[in-house]
Amino acid sequence: MNEAAPAQHDEFLRALKGAFMRGQWQNEAVRKAGDGGVEEVEKGVFGPKPGGVPYIWPWSMVRGFLDQSCEVVPQSFTSRRSLLFNNPGLAKGTTNSINMGIQMIRPGELAWAHRHSISALRFVIEGNPALFTVVNGVKHPMSNYDLVLTPAWNWHDHHNGPDRHGIWLDVLDGPIVGALNQVFFENFGPEQQPLANAPGETLSVLALPDNVIPPHARSGPEARIVFPWAEVEAKLKAAASGPGSAYDGVVLEYTDPTTGGPVLPALSCWAQMLRPGESTKPHRHTSSAVYFVIRGHGRTIVGDTELEWGPNDCFAIPNWATHEHRNLSATSDAVMFSVNDIPLVRFLGLYREEPEVSITRTPGQPGSDIVRAP
Ligand SMILES: [Fe+2]
Ligand SMILES: [Fe+2]
Repeated sequence: MNEAAPAQHDEFLRALKGAFMRGQWQNEAVRKAGDGGVEEVEKGVFGPKPGGVPYIWPWSMVRGFLDQSCEVVPQSFTSRRSLLFNNPGLAKGTTNSINMGIQMIRPGELAWAHRHSISALRFVIEGNPALFTVVNGVKHPMSNYDLVLTPAWNWHDHHNGPDRHGIWLDVLDGPIVGALNQVFFENFGPEQQPLANAPGETLSVLALPDNVIPPHARSGPEARIVFPWAEVEAKLKAAASGPGSAYDGVVLEYTDPTTGGPVLPALSCWAQMLRPGESTKPHRHTSSAVYFVIRGHGRTIVGDTELEWGPNDCFAIPNWATHEHRNLSATSDAVMFSVNDIPLVRFLGLYREEPEVSITRTPGQPGSDIVRAP
């Protein structure tokens, strides 16, 4: 570059900017300034920094907020009485791609019927025989730890009986749908959908008129909206006699029986068990995940952060953050439900996973009893 070049360069950039254009080399200059979310740019090899930070929302705190929410928001109306978990390292979202929240419905309440292009799922924390969700006119009961799907653009409303409150976890692909500018929402009109179920039935044909049923509605006897926990737990216990995964312990993926694939296009649900005393090896992957602890006590180490968890706690593991799990009990298992964005990341051809073999730990640091060869 000759001496006149810097001025020419600046003038050129101004002209480009005026034409709403920019040079690709300008992106690299931003990265070198440390603002690009990259590693090792000087070596010409870089990748993402973890999206957000590891974080835990303890049940002892969340439960109190749920009670308060019933006083502050007296009716569980269309927007729901839902408390969302915002990652402290992100502008919004629980991870870069997943929203997780928790909501309470009081005795006798109805959460109005609506639909949206954001896919959602419910994982029941406190169910009861009179708690149910209606999806496209079909009533689905909600018992403890059942998974209930409300896929994109499917009508849904939630109901509770007169005796007890209900609590469930909401997990949604909102950050993905929002980033693609694809958010649509529609109220059903009447507060609740007409029910197709005869008394005592949990499955039946749709009661909605054909022109109201979404084109990709999940309906019919083969459709799977609810995954009862009893079924999942039995499979998890059966799998516990096998070797499991070095990185996840005993882990099962919920699958859609019509496709054999994940239960939602962007999100996959897992049930996971850490057997008594079990510790997993550290690894990282380009998918992120949110966790709910069903039972047990353990510790998940994410980078230099220790998340110590117990029943009903929720936590987030950002993508591309090295992590490992430990069951802190030598006599009891620990069981978790989690949701990740592996289906979307895989679909885009972006999934990477690697054991983290470069770390060594010294006494006094998190995970001090783990020493791995460099
Ligand atoms: Fe909804
Ligand atoms: Fe992992």
